[in-house]
Amino acid sequence: MGRIIIVSNRLPITIDRKQGELIYHPSAGGLATGLGSLDQNTEKLWIGWPGKVVESEKEQDLITEQFKKDGMFPVFLSNKEIELFYEGFSNKTIWPHFHYFTQYTAYDDESWEVYKSVNEKFARVVASQIWPDDMVWVHDYQLMLVPGILRRHFPDISIGFFLHIPFPSYEIFRTLPWRKDLLNGVLGADQIGFHTFGYMRHFLSAAYRISGIEHSFGKLIVEGRSVNVDVFPMGIDYEKYAFPNVEDSESEEVQFIKNYGQKRKLILSIDRLDYSKGIPERIRAYELFLERNPEYRGIVTLMLVVVPSRANVDQYRSLKVEIDKLVGRINGTYGTFNWIPIRYYYRSFAFESLVAMYQAAHIALITPLRDGMNLVAKEYVATKQGDKPGVLILSEMAGAANELTEAIIINPKDQNDIEQALLKALETPHEVQRKALEEMQRRLQKYNVKHWANNFIKQQMEVKKFNQDRQTKLLSLENKTEMLESYKKSKSSLILLDYDGTLVGFKSKPEDAFPDEELVKQISEIHKRPNTTVVIISGRDRYTLEKWFGAVGIEIVSEHGVWLWDGTKWNRNESVIDTWKPTVMPFLEDLVERTPGSFIEEKDYTLAWHYRQIDNDLGVNRVREIRDELIYLTSNHDLQVLEGNKVVEIRNAGVNKGKAAGLWLGKKNWDFIMAVGDDHTDEDTFLALPPEAYTIKVGLNKTSARFKVKFVEDVRSIVKSLAES
Ligand code: UDP
Ligand code: G6P
Repeated sequence: MGRIIIVSNRLPITIDRKQGELIYHPSAGGLATGLGSLDQNTEKLWIGWPGKVVESEKEQDLITEQFKKDGMFPVFLSNKEIELFYEGFSNKTIWPHFHYFTQYTAYDDESWEVYKSVNEKFARVVASQIWPDDMVWVHDYQLMLVPGILRRHFPDISIGFFLHIPFPSYEIFRTLPWRKDLLNGVLGADQIGFHTFGYMRHFLSAAYRISGIEHSFGKLIVEGRSVNVDVFPMGIDYEKYAFPNVEDSESEEVQFIKNYGQKRKLILSIDRLDYSKGIPERIRAYELFLERNPEYRGIVTLMLVVVPSRANVDQYRSLKVEIDKLVGRINGTYGTFNWIPIRYYYRSFAFESLVAMYQAAHIALITPLRDGMNLVAKEYVATKQGDKPGVLILSEMAGAANELTEAIIINPKDQNDIEQALLKALETPHEVQRKALEEMQRRLQKYNVKHWANNFIKQQMEVKKFNQDRQTKLLSLENKTEMLESYKKSKSSLILLDYDGTLVGFKSKPEDAFPDEELVKQISEIHKRPNTTVVIISGRDRYTLEKWFGAVGIEIVSEHGVWLWDGTKWNRNESVIDTWKPTVMPFLEDLVERTPGSFIEEKDYTLAWHYRQIDNDLGVNRVREIRDELIYLTSNHDLQVLEGNKVVEIRNAGVNKGKAAGLWLGKKNWDFIMAVGDDHTDEDTFLALPPEAYTIKVGLNKTSARFKVKFVEDVRSIVKSLAES
């Protein structure tokens, strides 16, 4: 395996300027801290923005050199790019929209253009570093187009994408004008990861409804590639928090926190300044708690840490003003000479102080209105090792709530719920607190950040292998040339062609998938070649096939072998009957009535229920629902029920394309046989033919055919070559 190239908007190190000098410090936020604590054996490169505008080229070179030592490659952004890409499209459009704050979503085309160009810029830096065996792992909402851009330039490279924020429901996502580009950008990856099943479900629903791409157990096929979509809840560096390696000599700050924790019952609140974190709602709930529970005044203190973030975005600025006001009001109303209800800090803290706060806090009050994961909740639980337990109050809207189920889970919009939770937390006996913590700690220790990253990478490698395996039978240029040579030399050739999905792509209405003039002409050319037999073997009804190909003179199999066209007339397979139709038809008619958009296709000896045009989820549910009923209805007849591509067919047993193909095998001593088909009904044809036949499957799924081609266009190119030979 090659190296891992991590691509994220922020590097784990941020540069800053103090008195003109450049200084380097760790970046805040879950992503940077999480991935920063990764210790991979594999060589790791990290590409991202260093957090500050650096205009001078000389300085850029200096920083690049400095970062290179740690395997980091900075992407420098201009003031305009920061304004329109970072503050703009990323944090004024995607961030609010994906967190369900649609009232804040900005719709600005200029920001979108810059978002695109900056994503291209990141992709260019990746391209300048990449080696063929490397794996790329792109992170988060700022870089949703990067996988798609890289895929265009490197069709075979392994790309992963992880979204650290919620993926909203389709109904919210669909309102974004750029929804398709964002979706297709992400779909350039081979693996797409989310923190929770809910986000994954929303993504799959959007992929289907917006781009028409279906999934089977989280696997999608995108332009012939298999893409794995899965849930990977991000963990923390457990040992780092459980057994912190802090200085022997404690800072004044740490000492203060420890003493304060002895004096008061501390309720801890830590977040970046962000409207998604529900900070004002939390403060109001605390106010309600003080109002309703006067006995706790002077006993509890809310330690409110707000880490500055995205200060140039309007909503963040007004949020700061709102928090300042609320804190002022509460401290003004309830504060006494020796008690401040809220200790408010608008700054970030060093690791040792953070840990001291976690250790000292009786309660962690974490109530985001929406949060992709929330690592603070996990860190608090991990830190609670000593003899001083604690209680976690956690919003059900945080991704972490799916794992930290022993916490007191609240609805962040429900002030009464939070007030009651605070009361409950303060009155929970130590043994009960300890038991809940231990349960959660066991899970956090096992599913830590290393597990998260390694698991993601391991599965990405499996997808890579799977995609490579799927390509193993791909018809190469040499195969194609050899096949055409053999065809040219042959004295008697048999060519068996499926129609839908093979010669022509699928359409919503089957009647729209008619053959174009060029196709009919080419088939006719092949047919005219001496000693060549062309047979179209299809499941379609005979009237349509005759209309399309009757005049060409080729032979045709319709309804999978019920009817055979010998070039001038139809002959029926003697064994089939249609007396069962009146039993099944009313059932299907009822089904169509209940499922608008679906329809019945009646063939002479087959009934087919099509559901291509209806919602896929409904279609799949209906198929599940009717399966047993159909088997029951058909049990007294010699029938088979077959599930095809968006169609369920009921037809006579013993009729299949393989049997039909067999009719031609004994007719001549063929020295060239070719069969092409796209679905499982064509597998019968492939199996019926001798091993030296050129059997070709359209699509990359498992097949008994000798070769695979990816698309209908590839078949058309073969047909063209045959016609011109
Ligand atoms: N954090 C920090 N310094 C602080 C406060 C928080 O480094 O003063 C870290 C905290 O330890 C956590 C991260 O910032 O790892 C916040 O991640 P979270 O997932 O909770 O929220 P996000 O900022 O990603 O929305
Ligand atoms: C969240 C996002 C990260 C982001 C972090 C800090 O965790 O998912 O992608 O880096 O917040 O935000 P910032 O805007 O400062 O990078």
